[in-house]
Amino acid sequence: MSSSSFHRTHYCGGLKATDDGKKVTLMGWVNTRRDHGGLIFIDLRDRDGITQIVLNPQDTAQTAAKDLRREFVIAVEGKVQKRPEGMINKKLKTGEIEVVAQRLQVLSTANTLPFDPDDANVNEMLRLKYRYLELRSPELQKKLFLRSKFCNIVRNFFDENGFIEVETPILWKSTPEGARDYLVPSRVSPGTFYALPQSPQTLKQLLMISGFDRYYQIARCFRDEDLRADRQPEFTQVDIEMSFVEPDDVMSINEKAIARVWKELKGVDIKLPFLRMSYKEAMDRFGNDKPDTRFGMEIKDITELCKNTGFKVFDEAIARKGVVRGISVPGGAKFSRKDFDDLTDMSKKAGAKGLIWIKWDDQMSSPISKFFKPEQLEQMCIKTGASRGDSVLIISDEYDIAARTLSTLRLHLGNKLNLIDKTKDHFLWVLDFPLVEYDPVAKRWNACHHPFTSPQAQDIEAFLSQDPEKLIKVKAKAYDLVCNGYEIAGGSIRIHQEAVQDAMFKALKISPEEAKLKFGFFLEALSYGTPPHGGIAWGVDRVVMILCGTEAIREVIAFPKTQKASCQMSETPSVVDRDQLAELHIKTVAPTQST
Ligand code: AMO
Repeated sequence: MSSSSFHRTHYCGGLKATDDGKKVTLMGWVNTRRDHGGLIFIDLRDRDGITQIVLNPQDTAQTAAKDLRREFVIAVEGKVQKRPEGMINKKLKTGEIEVVAQRLQVLSTANTLPFDPDDANVNEMLRLKYRYLELRSPELQKKLFLRSKFCNIVRNFFDENGFIEVETPILWKSTPEGARDYLVPSRVSPGTFYALPQSPQTLKQLLMISGFDRYYQIARCFRDEDLRADRQPEFTQVDIEMSFVEPDDVMSINEKAIARVWKELKGVDIKLPFLRMSYKEAMDRFGNDKPDTRFGMEIKDITELCKNTGFKVFDEAIARKGVVRGISVPGGAKFSRKDFDDLTDMSKKAGAKGLIWIKWDDQMSSPISKFFKPEQLEQMCIKTGASRGDSVLIISDEYDIAARTLSTLRLHLGNKLNLIDKTKDHFLWVLDFPLVEYDPVAKRWNACHHPFTSPQAQDIEAFLSQDPEKLIKVKAKAYDLVCNGYEIAGGSIRIHQEAVQDAMFKALKISPEEAKLKFGFFLEALSYGTPPHGGIAWGVDRVVMILCGTEAIREVIAFPKTQKASCQMSETPSVVDRDQLAELHIKTVAPTQST
């Protein structure tokens, strides 16, 4: 079968009433075939849309269409015809016309599909096994077209602003972004491995040392970490690095880039500059360093109010330097006992010992009402911003646990009670992160961002002192961009002096030998004239997810991995030949029970 005698003239989504009478040739998939006693109607589909094809009984084309079934690929030559007034299909872009077929050729037949690509209820694993069929759905195609446009806009923007796109290696060395590496064995150097880059972090810094001044790349990154709805083991960044800059410079150009993207893809003018919030404020008000600021229900501290009340739960937490904090739930007085039990379970899963609730209906009710006068309960409610008709959820625990739990409850209820205005996107920068945090189990400090992040200027001395009391207060010159509760980008100004870099490795308990082994090339590079520099990386998949209005990252990736980091379709990862392993000098061992 060949299409040689047919030459496509149009896509299936663009013909209009003004094309009436035109001779056209369309090619695509049979979306539906309807036999109306003599007349046959075909909805022909391609990436652009659907056109209705009519086959008259007297035409030879109909003979060729006799055995057509769904998803056959065909070529049709025919004449565009305006549909009569009452027959216009307003749901279809091409609903004003149809094409009366004169010639039709089957280009390829199709077996019955394992599922209907339009049926949203099909099991996800089956859809992923046949991802190429799922990708026939117009919704998914629309998302990938948007992703492609997004990349173009970004490229144009950074190109116009003097950035050079440089590709960096994929066979590379471990880059410390906090996840496990994917390793690739070397055949020619037995026992050695490449690591796939968790990001091009060290490479883009080297490009600054080389003097490129402004770099960007739409870069692939690989991280072996626990997957979530907004995480994939391989994902894409818009990766950026700039020389002779301060945080304001990086933030300013990036928010302009975001504004351009939103304008071109959503037609929306985003107000600049974005809101800025310190890490501490984000944690205090939202319990979270990537706050969803599209709705209220902010966390309020009621520790002072709850001091010396004689109530054991509060007294004990406060004595241990903990806090009493709460959120008010609008309309929460309607909640049933079961609702509160569910919220209590959720709190326990988040790490809290329990949940205290107060329901402010005609009167106050609460499991703690026997310990407090109604006026005291009312005061707690008022302090959290509640009024009659609401309820209040209180956690009395360590600061971090209270923050995590209240953040979980807030996000859950914000969604459940439809408090989130999903018509607008809220951006904000989160700043002033701690530079390092102490890991009591490993008895060492960890970098909160990555170990090349610079301390803030006023903290450099404290940092160099390595005094634990001072280290904990050192702030990073780092910034995260948050949108609708997602961290969509993160970056920092880098360390460009060797002494500060050495101090960082010391704090992280990376010995000079280990540092030399892991980053020797990089540390040496720093010694040959390094410009002060900094950068950022956007999570492309997350930004596109938000632009598409979806909460599932797999919908904006053509061939995503499952929760177990595998590909259902190709069954990757898979076993390989023994010979291949031998060539790589690798022996596998059976997994132990616990793995
Ligand atoms: P960071 O680790 O914060 O910074 O990553 C930058 C952004 O990448 C996105 N992201 C992910 N998206 C999908 N799946 C994942 N597994 C995943 N991990 C991260 C997030 C995040 O904000 N080298 C530094 C950047 C810099 O300092 O310039 C870095 O990679 O949206």
